[in-house]
Amino acid sequence: MNVLLTGGTGYIGSHAAVALVELGHQVVLYDNLTNSSEAVVEKLEQVADQRMPFVKGDVRDTKFLIDALGDYSIDAVIHLAGLKAVSDSIKKPVDYYANNVQGTISLLQAMRAQQLKTLVFSSSATVYGHPRYLPLDESHPTCATNPYGRSKLQIEEMLRDVAASDPQSRIVCLRYFNPVGAHEGGLIGEKPNGVPSNLMPFIAQVAAGKRTELSVFGGDYPTPDGTGVRDYIHVMDLAEGHAAALSFLSQNVGWHAINLGKGKGYSVLELVRVFEKASGHQVPYTLVARRAGDVAACYSNPEKAFKLLNWAAKRTVEEMCASTWRLQQSVEIK
Ligand SMILES: NC(=O)c1ccc[n+]([C@@H]2O[C@H](COP(=O)([O-])OP(=O)(O)OC[C@H]3O[C@@H](n4cnc5c(N)ncnc54)[C@H](O)[C@@H]3O)[C@@H](O)[C@H]2O)c1
Repeated sequence: MNVLLTGGTGYIGSHAAVALVELGHQVVLYDNLTNSSEAVVEKLEQVADQRMPFVKGDVRDTKFLIDALGDYSIDAVIHLAGLKAVSDSIKKPVDYYANNVQGTISLLQAMRAQQLKTLVFSSSATVYGHPRYLPLDESHPTCATNPYGRSKLQIEEMLRDVAASDPQSRIVCLRYFNPVGAHEGGLIGEKPNGVPSNLMPFIAQVAAGKRTELSVFGGDYPTPDGTGVRDYIHVMDLAEGHAAALSFLSQNVGWHAINLGKGKGYSVLELVRVFEKASGHQVPYTLVARRAGDVAACYSNPEKAFKLLNWAAKRTVEEMCASTWRLQQSVEIK
């Protein structure tokens, strides 16, 4: 299948590209490089042993996107392009709606122009809002608590309308939990500029001595050790979930929301301990006040993914930490 990945040079997109190529798909990377670099294309060539075509473009440029879909005879789109920082979205909501929602409208127009019906969308567990029960299954009520989450929810609802309007539509919204880790080669992965906003890259930088300590937000949650619990999933498991979603859509029409998580929560301190073991370095930390908006625990019920996609996350938290550490070391060498 010829698959266009919007946001293809980003963290998850680049790993999804590897997983798809391994299964024999032809992948085209489409990205405006606002949060990634063209150097990823070279790295992907080394990892996947083949050159993937790269198109530098914005998803909001509908005309350009129509041409790209046509030029590469695209059969299906995986739509990962988007802005993703919750705190940023609170400061710049218009940018988030313009990029994420308007970008998706443009993509849907381009797909319609090319009579394309198959779409996998990068959604997020954030669409569940504050958990009313755990583990979170796909029937849990949806609710957004910030502009980023609202943009994901609006897109999901829009895609549901599209599917309802066209019986040939094939759409999966993948609700990611907490992707971490990197491809085992240490060539591609999440390489944040400046202070990392996610926990795992921050831990890696503390272990590497680039930062003095980790601030753990909240040590008094009703969890076994008092720190927040999240459902971490290895990015290569997540990547393989995209390939499984495409395969599911080759047999099924309609709109489907599916969790991609491991179904098990780890606390911040558990993750720190596993990372220390994987890296052989200490990760000093201080417990500080809770962060506004954070919940005590959030983890998935992954049964629907297993049932519909025949997919389950299989990599361990040790592998998540070890691959992050390999990536951190490869960054240090440069
Ligand atoms: N990483 C996570 O923890 C996480 C969790 C849940 C959902 N998601 C979603 O998954 C998707 C991918 O996330 P990621 O972690 O790989 O982020 P990322 O920032 O690494 O990748 C996104 C890519 O999209 C590109 N992009 C942004 N706006 C664009 C536009 N208008 N046109 C073309 N390209 C554009 C960026 O340059 C970047 O390369 C996002 O939609 C994100 O909201 C991520």
